[in-house]
Amino acid sequence: MFRSIALLSYAGTISAAFTGNLNYQSPSKHHASLGVSISKVAKRTYANSPWEPSQLNFTHGVASGDPFDDSVILWTRAAPYSDNDKSNITVSGYVPLYDHSTEQYVASSNAPVCVEWKISESDALDNTIDSGTAFTSSDIDYTIKVEARKLRTFTTYYYQFNICNSNNTSPVGRTKTIPSQNAQVTDPVKLAIYSCSNYPFGFFNAYGNTVRKDSVDYVVHLGDYIYEYANGDYGWGNAYGRVPLPDRNIATLYDYRKRIATYRTDLDLLASHQNFPWIPVWDDHEVSDNTWRDGNSHMNNTEESFIMDGGVSVDQLKMNAVRAYFEWMPIRQVDMDDNLRIWRSFQFGDLFDLIMLDTRQYDRAITDVYWNTEYLADIHNEASRSLMGPRQETWFYRSLRESASRGATWRVIGNQIIFSRINNSVLTGDYEAPYNYDQWDGYQANRNRTFHAIYENNISNNIFLAGDSHASWVSDLVWLDEHPYNPATGEGSMGVEFAGSAVSSPSPVGQNVTLDTAANASAQLTAANDELQWQDFYYRGYYELSITHDKVEAAFFGIPTNSVRQGYEIPLANFTVVAGENKLRRSNGAAADGNVESGSLKGGQAVQTNLTHDTSSGVWITYNAP
Ligand SMILES: *[C@@H]1O[C@H](CO)[C@@H](O)[C@H](O)[C@H]1NC(C)=O
Ligand SMILES: *[C@@H]1O[C@H](CO)[C@@H](O)[C@H](O)[C@H]1NC(C)=O
Ligand SMILES: *[C@@H]1O[C@H](CO)[C@@H](O)[C@H](O)[C@H]1NC(C)=O
Ligand SMILES: *[C@@H]1O[C@H](CO)[C@@H](O)[C@H](O)[C@H]1NC(C)=O
Ligand SMILES: *[C@@H]1O[C@H](CO)[C@@H](O)[C@H](O)[C@H]1NC(C)=O
Ligand SMILES: *[C@@H]1O[C@H](CO)[C@@H](O)[C@H](O)[C@H]1NC(C)=O
Ligand SMILES: *[C@@H]1O[C@H](CO)[C@@H](O)[C@H](O)[C@H]1NC(C)=O
Ligand SMILES: *[C@@H]1O[C@H](CO)[C@@H](O)[C@H](O)[C@H]1NC(C)=O
Ligand SMILES: *[C@@H]1O[C@H](CO)[C@@H](O)[C@H](O)[C@H]1NC(C)=O
Ligand SMILES: *[C@@H]1O[C@H](CO)[C@@H](O)[C@H](O)[C@H]1NC(C)=O
Ligand SMILES: *[C@@H]1O[C@H](CO)[C@@H](O)[C@H](O)[C@H]1NC(C)=O
Repeated sequence: MFRSIALLSYAGTISAAFTGNLNYQSPSKHHASLGVSISKVAKRTYANSPWEPSQLNFTHGVASGDPFDDSVILWTRAAPYSDNDKSNITVSGYVPLYDHSTEQYVASSNAPVCVEWKISESDALDNTIDSGTAFTSSDIDYTIKVEARKLRTFTTYYYQFNICNSNNTSPVGRTKTIPSQNAQVTDPVKLAIYSCSNYPFGFFNAYGNTVRKDSVDYVVHLGDYIYEYANGDYGWGNAYGRVPLPDRNIATLYDYRKRIATYRTDLDLLASHQNFPWIPVWDDHEVSDNTWRDGNSHMNNTEESFIMDGGVSVDQLKMNAVRAYFEWMPIRQVDMDDNLRIWRSFQFGDLFDLIMLDTRQYDRAITDVYWNTEYLADIHNEASRSLMGPRQETWFYRSLRESASRGATWRVIGNQIIFSRINNSVLTGDYEAPYNYDQWDGYQANRNRTFHAIYENNISNNIFLAGDSHASWVSDLVWLDEHPYNPATGEGSMGVEFAGSAVSSPSPVGQNVTLDTAANASAQLTAANDELQWQDFYYRGYYELSITHDKVEAAFFGIPTNSVRQGYEIPLANFTVVAGENKLRRSNGAAADGNVESGSLKGGQAVQTNLTHDTSSGVWITYNAP
């Protein structure tokens, strides 16, 4: 009797430690080919673990993300080797272990690794608030993702992992919960907004600068966290010796794991993950170039070839990419029955709702895959076209309405691609197809439905965020040709769009474009597009948002060079949106708060300041243009 109770409780402990690692259940335990059979992995747990604690390393630092008011996701990797696991999930759930020294699959020594974790309000990690034990194994590339609970709202925490029963510890990470839904938020909430980090194109200095300044609370990533190309297939390749492994167009589960792991060796990216909770969404390159529901620019697929597990239309590429993404990113599985779903929202007290969209992988109608641009120009205004699919669209419009009716001051929409209408025929010379159909311009009906939801419900204070384009674009949010708009005053606008440049991906008007050529292109675009108030093609960088009930302030930063790891940066432009005004605040007839450093400002000017370094702050306040 006593004995059987003891056995049961032992079994209970094992099971909790396995389910405690969320990666055994993600993307979804409900779909055999995507989830891992926990009971089969648990059978490989031996009383005496074959792993010496000293054999195991925290190979890729720590990370945290998807903060709620009382919980947050914590991430690490504890592995017997720094390479990624080459095994993959078979139908039976049996996973052979890949021995990297002999390059063979072996059926032994694949026992799970045990880790413990704890979280505390002090960086010395005393007074533990929550803690636990979790297993990991080759099945999930030795990644560990746990949820720390029992936390206080809008509070900074420190966390650490260690190999069970040992002093082999991970670095200490820092994270922060968000205000609870009904809280009155009095402090500003600060976000850093990033997109498009391409490893061979240079060091990820932009990620490191917010750590060096300690200037934000949370990081929002709008996608293109990795790129799928083989080195040299895209741009100049190996200029800086940063080879994105494995050096091929990635396709297998191992490939996606290895590619993310390679990116996760950049010291500034590691520092960002270690210091800030992230709220990321993917764009196309987490899978492949210009993906949509059933294909991408590298392949011509038919709908039939995508009928996969659980009636969800994903192909093998998407399945591998999504598995690796969930294994490696500190993100929650939103819906166990919807393994492609990452669209979700966060309620920052009464201050704002952060609504994160997936305009890319989930349910997007066909996009521009280069050979079909004229066709896209023909169909871009068709009513049936959607970027998000009906399920997500319905949720999105409801989220906007519910956010306004619950009285949140702002709605901040994290989205991949540029929302505003941009006629770029002055640059492309293509007057038949004047838009970029891979952006919202290719899906006008979806954009109209969004505007309709905003106007019909008189929803104020909408801030759209975008990445993807490798350039900076700041616009009033206007339904052109439907509602009157005054570009000089902003009258007629229903919000603002802030679209940011890339961490390192090159400028769309030329990899090594000069300041003058870039500024010329920007000037032509701001002249051709009424609502586009500032545009810059030159600088790689990011932007910060400071959000209070009175106003949202945006500060754009440019990185002088990514050819070396360095911490200098240039303040490019500042903008303010006053609550209730629904447009960029004008100052001296222009939409920026003063002059801008670079690009083209409608009604204002770019004034290059004579900059040199302030070495004490690490911020590049003075800069001599090349
Ligand atoms: C673990 O890290 C130590 C110290 O950095 C290193 O010497 C060792 O080779 C690593 N072991 C593995 C298996 O990666
Ligand atoms: C961890 O280190 C402490 C202090 O050095 C030592 O007393 C303890 O025995 C170690 N624990 C393990 C499990 O090795
Ligand atoms: C899965 O692993 C097997 C070896 O067990 C290998 O032959 C196969 O190519 C792998 N498939 C993928 C998609 O990686
Ligand atoms: C897809 O089909 C189009 C039209 O037949 C062709 O131009 C294009 O090269 C094909 N692309 C690929 C990647 O096969
Ligand atoms: C979207 O709105 C614009 C402006 O009113 C209009 O020209 C266009 O036909 C609309 N498209 C759809 C599909 O509703
Ligand atoms: C829309 O909301 C604003 C405040 O956000 C209010 O001033 C205005 O009267 C409202 N308009 C309508 C038509 O309800
Ligand atoms: C741009 O500059 C890089 C780094 O100097 C160089 O390797 C590359 O060839 C240049 N690319 C182009 C397209 O000129
Ligand atoms: C921009 O470039 C075009 C074409 O090269 C040229 O005609 C025009 O004068 C330039 N504009 C400015 C403002 O430099
Ligand atoms: C796009 O802009 C060009 C000039 O900048 C103009 O000639 C053309 O009519 C515009 N196209 C549309 C569809 O508005
Ligand atoms: C933006 O604001 C910051 C902080 O107030 C200031 O240091 C910077 O010079 C401003 N940048 C521009 C381009 O006005
Ligand atoms: C910038 O600095 C250079 C010398 O470094 C000087 O010749 C020039 O006049 C300065 N320009 C401005 C606008 O201050």
